[in-house]
Amino acid sequence: MNRVWIDLAYLLAAVFFILGLKGLTKPRTAVRGNLLGAIGMLIAVVVTLFDHQVVSFDLIVVGVLIGSVIGVVLAIKIKMEQMPEMVALLNGFGGAASLFVAGAEVYHRVQLAWGAAITAAGEAATATDFATALNANLPTGTGAAIAASGLIGALTLSGSVVAFAKLAEQQWLRKIPPIPRPQIVNIVLGLLAILLFAIVANNPGSQGMYWLLALVSLVLGYSLTISIGGADMPVVIALLNSYSGLAAAATGFVLQNNVLIIAGSLVGASGVILTKIMCDAMNRSLPAVLFGTLGPKADGPSADEVYKNVKATSADEIAMLLDVAQRVVIVPGYGMAVAQAQHAVRDLTNLLKSKGIEVEFGIHPVAGRMPGHMNVLLAEADIPYDLLKEMDDINATLEQTDVCLVVGANDTVNPDARTNPNSPIAGMPIINADKARTCVVIKRSLSPGFAGIPNPLFSADNSLMFFADGKQAIVDIINAVKAG
Ligand code: TAP
Repeated sequence: MNRVWIDLAYLLAAVFFILGLKGLTKPRTAVRGNLLGAIGMLIAVVVTLFDHQVVSFDLIVVGVLIGSVIGVVLAIKIKMEQMPEMVALLNGFGGAASLFVAGAEVYHRVQLAWGAAITAAGEAATATDFATALNANLPTGTGAAIAASGLIGALTLSGSVVAFAKLAEQQWLRKIPPIPRPQIVNIVLGLLAILLFAIVANNPGSQGMYWLLALVSLVLGYSLTISIGGADMPVVIALLNSYSGLAAAATGFVLQNNVLIIAGSLVGASGVILTKIMCDAMNRSLPAVLFGTLGPKADGPSADEVYKNVKATSADEIAMLLDVAQRVVIVPGYGMAVAQAQHAVRDLTNLLKSKGIEVEFGIHPVAGRMPGHMNVLLAEADIPYDLLKEMDDINATLEQTDVCLVVGANDTVNPDARTNPNSPIAGMPIINADKARTCVVIKRSLSPGFAGIPNPLFSADNSLMFFADGKQAIVDIINAVKAG
């Protein structure tokens, strides 16, 4: 296909990507935005297949088949509540693709350079002949892009694998001894990576240095991510998302592929914006997350002390509370995702509204395990968007709320963040469920949330605990309300 047509088609794909992103900024237009983005990607893939650089369709077909089989198996096996860790892992695959594609391209161009040197000078070709040929095939200008692909791609890969393991709460993570003085280790590894980056950028044909840079970056990605405190993971996920885009953009420069540069830059830029949103949501600065010392501190009261005054309740008692309530706020958290309780929550919402009770939802930006997790679940259950209120808006109303129903949320409603400066989540804005007249918390036990700390909300004077699976609890409450 003619280069001009290819570039025009890439431009069209880029327009679709941008319209898609624009659509994704609002829940109402998100589905259309997703579709536009997918159309853009289809155009980009089809046109790339017509590009003269694609030499072997056989390998592409084999790759598509293997990838499709793995994708289908994963899609069938992965449970809905495992989606966040799956998304984290897919970021890592993006990084790995950039790392290996750039590495393969360097190998390919070095081979071409050898071929060209031998053609020009015969079997007696010297290192100078090769260097001249290499410079033609791999100009120094692409060196920085190659080095960036290696560094960011490898860092994204190992960081995402650790993020995956943390989100999946894998047991092997607990067996790994902590890195002593992680800040110093990170600084040393970072400086080494910068040095190797400079070497590769100046000698793009040096394959040994490229893979050494990749190795150091893999270790750096691991050490940066493993030492980050539990409650800071939302920022890390957003950052890794951004890195995978930046790595793809760098690889786009290596391959001189415009659509990869554009798509990678869009992912990189939106990841940076998401990182900023997550930092604001946690009230943390990015350097504090990456180089800080946040982690469970040992000097807080024990769980036994915190939970001395816990009061358990039942579906019938909650139904009685709801019967006299005028306003109810539902605060969903990760437990709602695990229990897949969103459809039951919708039924309860409709039932309460049919009784004239005002119902709204309080959405914490880091509730669940991935950005927008609660919005996606509630949208899946067709809960109207206008009932979903952001943290600041709902907090302004909680003192006038009769019942706050916390469904599987924990860290995001932990008042310690507000009141205890020694808490690992000190300063993180929370949904002030404790300010409602009565707070009912639905969860199976008193076990902690992702940050691993006790929650004084559960033993507050105005709190009642309903110990049950989230979905079953809501179904029982619905039945009790109907029977009442
Ligand atoms: P968490 O603090 O993680 O607490 C979830 C609670 O759900 C647990 O205490 C658990 O208690 C309960 N639960 C689990 N399965 C349940 C079920 N079947 N039925 C009822 N309850 C169930 O949740 P959160 O308030 O949503 O906070 C999110 C946390 O994850 C924050 O610390 C955040 O920083 C972190 N994080 C967020 C993200 C993003 S981007 N959103 C990414 C990584 C980490 P039981 O076991 O007692 O039932």
